[in-house]
Amino acid sequence: MRILMVCLGNICRSPLAHGILEHKVKALGLNWDIDSAGTGGWHAGELPDPRSIDIARSKGIDITNQRARQFKQNDFDEFDVIYAMDASNFNDINRLARTEEEKEKVIMILNESYPGENRRVPDPYYGGPDGFANVFNLLNEATNKILAKYQ
Ligand code: 4NP
Repeated sequence: MRILMVCLGNICRSPLAHGILEHKVKALGLNWDIDSAGTGGWHAGELPDPRSIDIARSKGIDITNQRARQFKQNDFDEFDVIYAMDASNFNDINRLARTEEEKEKVIMILNESYPGENRRVPDPYYGGPDGFANVFNLLNEATNKILAKYQ
């Protein structure tokens, strides 16, 4: 499986989704390819937000190997599934899809935990540390569902 996690900046939410799933995949010895990207390019080349690094580290996951990059159309060729954190990401990614098959690769990540509800992973960028703990918990649950679905 090749899975891409996408948010807006690729510094808060998608690096956590990427790091949590990659951690679990490695622990299980699966040969999956996990990556993340942002629909926006402002933070390209940057480390994840320190608050994302801290919440991940507190759960035993190191995400400091990650650097932000912008989502590109070619990602549709490189990945089997593309997970969006919210509806805005979902629409921005879909706008770049060239075919129906590419559109079908794009999924709201919390629909794995809450099918059909189109819930969003709240953007924690302007909030406090509780926001990041909540994001971590939501993504921890969703990545368990993803593992169960494709393993
Ligand atoms: P993310 O959070 O999409 O979860 O990485 C954000 C990071 C940066 C900005 C917005 C959201 N920003 O406006 O710079």
